Amino acid sequence: MTTNLFKNLCLLCIAMAQVVFCTAQKKTIDQKVDSVLKLMTLDEKIGQMNQYNGDFNATGPITQDGDKQNQIREGKLGSILNVTGVDHTRTLQQIALQSRLKIPLLFGQDVIHGYRTIFPLPLAEAASWDMEAIEQTARIAATEAAAAGIHWTFAPMVDIARDPRWGRVMEGAGEDTYLGSLIAAARVKGFQGKGLGNTDAVMACAKHFAAYGAAIGGRDYNSVDMSLRQLYEVYLPPFKAAAEAGAATFMNSFNDLNGIPATGNKYLQRDILKGQWKFKGFVVSDWGSVGEMVNHGYAKDKYEAAMLAANAGSDMDMESRSYIKNLATLVKEGKVKIAVIDEAVKRILKKKFEMGLFDDPFKFCNEAREKEQWDNKNNLAVAREMAKKSIVLLKNDNQLLPLSKQSNNIALIGPFVKAVRDNLGFWSYSWPDDTARIVTLFDGVKNKLAANANILYAKGCNINDSSKAGFDEAMAVARQSDVVVLSVGEASNMTGEAKSRSNLHLPGVQEDLIKAVMATGKPVIVLISAGRPLVFNWTADNVPAIVYTWWLGTEAGNAIADVLFGDHNPAGKLPISFPRTEGQIPVYYNHYNTGRPAKRDNDVNYVSAYTDLLNSPRYAFGYGLSFTKFTYGAFTVNKTALKANDKLEVSVTVTNSGNYDGEEVVQLYVRDRFGSVVRPVKELKGFKKIFLKKGESREVKFTLTTNDLKFYNDALVYDWEPGDFDIMAGPNSADVQKLSITWNK
Ligand code: NOJ
Repeated sequence: MTTNLFKNLCLLCIAMAQVVFCTAQKKTIDQKVDSVLKLMTLDEKIGQMNQYNGDFNATGPITQDGDKQNQIREGKLGSILNVTGVDHTRTLQQIALQSRLKIPLLFGQDVIHGYRTIFPLPLAEAASWDMEAIEQTARIAATEAAAAGIHWTFAPMVDIARDPRWGRVMEGAGEDTYLGSLIAAARVKGFQGKGLGNTDAVMACAKHFAAYGAAIGGRDYNSVDMSLRQLYEVYLPPFKAAAEAGAATFMNSFNDLNGIPATGNKYLQRDILKGQWKFKGFVVSDWGSVGEMVNHGYAKDKYEAAMLAANAGSDMDMESRSYIKNLATLVKEGKVKIAVIDEAVKRILKKKFEMGLFDDPFKFCNEAREKEQWDNKNNLAVAREMAKKSIVLLKNDNQLLPLSKQSNNIALIGPFVKAVRDNLGFWSYSWPDDTARIVTLFDGVKNKLAANANILYAKGCNINDSSKAGFDEAMAVARQSDVVVLSVGEASNMTGEAKSRSNLHLPGVQEDLIKAVMATGKPVIVLISAGRPLVFNWTADNVPAIVYTWWLGTEAGNAIADVLFGDHNPAGKLPISFPRTEGQIPVYYNHYNTGRPAKRDNDVNYVSAYTDLLNSPRYAFGYGLSFTKFTYGAFTVNKTALKANDKLEVSVTVTNSGNYDGEEVVQLYVRDRFGSVVRPVKELKGFKKIFLKKGESREVKFTLTTNDLKFYNDALVYDWEPGDFDIMAGPNSADVQKLSITWNK
């Protein structure tokens, strides 16, 4: 036998042994689950399917109902949300161990964009188009949370959102299915790290299943009505990506989908998720959503709601108490089969085993680890990096930015200059030392400039009231300066859950403040802090430089200063279209062409358009500038007539023709010209984030196969159709070069 053959055989044996070992291990967990299940009474089983709110935070309407600790002791709770800290979780876990079967509790928490270290809000992170960075912040969030006793985060939110009136756009990855799916997978991987059972991994929860992002009119908790094709093509893929990345849990949603509340929706939970996708984790309801099926008019009372939800595949009831109060009777009456209960409980117990909680219920209760993760410098450095990557430069006339660090007189004006909590945004926790540790814009600029730099400051106005009393001072300060940085936006409680708004203009008198400061004739840079796309047309038309800073988290001020003074060249690209006005919503790049498409931006004559508005969005999906300039040159494909098994090689040459080194996100779009169902005018099919030194050129290559052309046809069959295609590449969805090809069977 040759040495190589011998080596290969050995490797094969090792691989086979690993497979056998893993299968055995899996079996062991399944067997362990079965053996626990056998010991359980019906009430204990139902207890596992029950989740209550703890007392760290309230993220929904609280129900006060007696002694929760006693209920834990009686085995009536499988999980608690909103409890945190090693001490606290240990105390509750000790109580769980006093229950008859000593089944450990799962502690869940909304760790959406960080725990102690707050990263940019998820929509902002999506603007980085940087999967590694996104995975890394989720990794750190998980590490910090797990060190504080948390087992499970209710993230990532993977809802596609095309309506910025919906306050929850901040929590997702924006409007695009392709980008959203990649981000969904990156976040799941980040949260779950090397796998459940590691002390730095928390269970991910893909939410809200499904189509919550399409709530009619962008009003939170509202109904959703859409074709199944739309559901499969636009809204489900990020969930599928999350499931494929191994998400341990799913959360269903508040909305009804085509008349059936998601929580009681068998088609979604049993047929698609647990059936077609073979999802092995468990599904938790959203807060109270089992009971809310009564308000929906789908269940007569909580008894019926419990029956519908359990039978539809909702394994755990968050906060509605419908299961704990009714499931036993429903089983006795034969309305819910014991097999349904057993299946749900098995799914839940399995995760508890995988987390290692049966072996060591206090595995996540380690003071030393908790301390080490609290204010971990490395985590803060990553937060600053991610914040820089999330910033989007919307306008920079005459290269006003970056500013020189030698600028002597800089005026910082606006209600966000010294804002603390408003840098963090919704879904972030308050800690007693927030004021000392969150870097404000003022501090960030101060940190950047020499000690003798003259930083002038005026608040100008509040975020959301009508007083202009501070305008005179703001103008006086502007007049004394060489350059003004004006920081405006939305307060952190204006975008998030239950924060839908019909008016997306800059709140209060902030745009008037911008006008007043602009009237001084000084050069002005406007920074906009927000959780969603806002409307700011006067500013967009008149202010020379605009930077969208979203809510950037703990290191916000430092990151913004890095950009303002050129230590970081911004490269963020919008993951969602910005409307010109609320009446244009929803506006998204991958719409259909219609029978009467507008040919020009101002086309109104018998075309699909508003007569009082340009047809384009204010800022298109994928848009974002750099301090440098990227020129798109030669755009080629390897062939223009392809056969089924061919690969399309697309190449575009990008040159950094400006004055700074910088990064660019090169975007590839495809249009299927004719189909058995109409296809969008463009669909993102690839992107590459590249770094080019000043003067450098790079040929950026993409490869497409017919897999990239697939879509759901009218019969919901996922396949491609031969024919004509446009291939487009460019710096954003509205600015592309185009080539036409044919692709036949
Ligand atoms: C309701 C929200 O919709 C959901 O996303 C969140 O995880 C739960 N409340 C728990 O806070």
